[in-house]
Amino acid sequence: MGFPDYRPRRLRKHENFRRMIRETRLSVDNLIMPLFVVPGTKITNPVKSMPGIAQLSVDRAVDECRAIRDLGIPAVILFGIPDKKDGAGSGAYSDTGIIQQALRAIKAAVSDLVLITDVCLCEYTDHGHCGPLAKGPDGRTDVDNDRTVALLARAACVYAEAGADAAAPSDMMDGRVGAIRAALDAARRTDVLVVSYAAKYASAFYGPFREAAGSTPSFGDRRGYQMDPANADEALREVAADLAEGADIVMVKPALPFLDIVRRVKDRFGVPVAAYNVSGEYAMLKAAAQNGWLDGDRAMMEVLTSIRRAGADILLTYFAKDAARILGGGRA
Ligand code: PBG
Repeated sequence: MGFPDYRPRRLRKHENFRRMIRETRLSVDNLIMPLFVVPGTKITNPVKSMPGIAQLSVDRAVDECRAIRDLGIPAVILFGIPDKKDGAGSGAYSDTGIIQQALRAIKAAVSDLVLITDVCLCEYTDHGHCGPLAKGPDGRTDVDNDRTVALLARAACVYAEAGADAAAPSDMMDGRVGAIRAALDAARRTDVLVVSYAAKYASAFYGPFREAAGSTPSFGDRRGYQMDPANADEALREVAADLAEGADIVMVKPALPFLDIVRRVKDRFGVPVAAYNVSGEYAMLKAAAQNGWLDGDRAMMEVLTSIRRAGADILLTYFAKDAARILGGGRA
């Protein structure tokens, strides 16, 4: 009597067995929906390269947040597009900034939704870089790291004051997590989380976002502060540094081209890991689906499941509402 034939198909034959042994679960609980907020009222301004996504005025963002909450999605991440930009990105941290207005309105109307704010200056600077510029010791113009960090810490405190539950720095300056944590603590906001874009790569997949947020750098690129896509060990060092500085959740971004990084971060640190399924990942799938080249829903679920399987607890994705409709779980 030999060893029985290996017949794995027996386990795949019946959907009920497939359900019983399914290893990875994607739930609406894992999703965060990004929103773009613009000044004005009654504005829904579709983003061409991101079908289904629009810039919203505060009133529309409030409605959208109600719908998101009703679908059972636990959180949103907010990006602001100001009407005025300047060299130091002051719209990001002034009391009257667009995100601050959005936070107050959404918190008042939809108190049971977690509000995360992207903390970065690139949408607010007239040159589109992630912080004020200065000539370095070598005479070259560059983002002034330490001045940027101080402004980000200020922005995080202003957002907390306006109702943010978490600050998510996406600038990749050195030392910003520690500075934001210290500033929040000094403002007695020890309750506000830091969700760090810890391993954020200089990626071509941010293209559609830059259309949505109007944040394309007017010269140069972000390779002097975002990571080289070829590096993996460096991502682990970035994550270790952010955790040491007090990050509560660490993020890998983009998701699909960096699933190996998601897995290594999860295995190495065992902390809550988020992955950002970015604008370009959304756009390419939507475009293929619109052309009838892919089954959009199936491809979406496969992609989101792969990010979970790689080890992400949390998925920031423009698909959050579409996926929630398929997954169920909300009130709607
Ligand atoms: C801001 C920021 C960016 C994204 C999130 N926060 C753009 C960038 O770094 O150029 C990209 C998100 C996406 O592409 O969906 N610094």
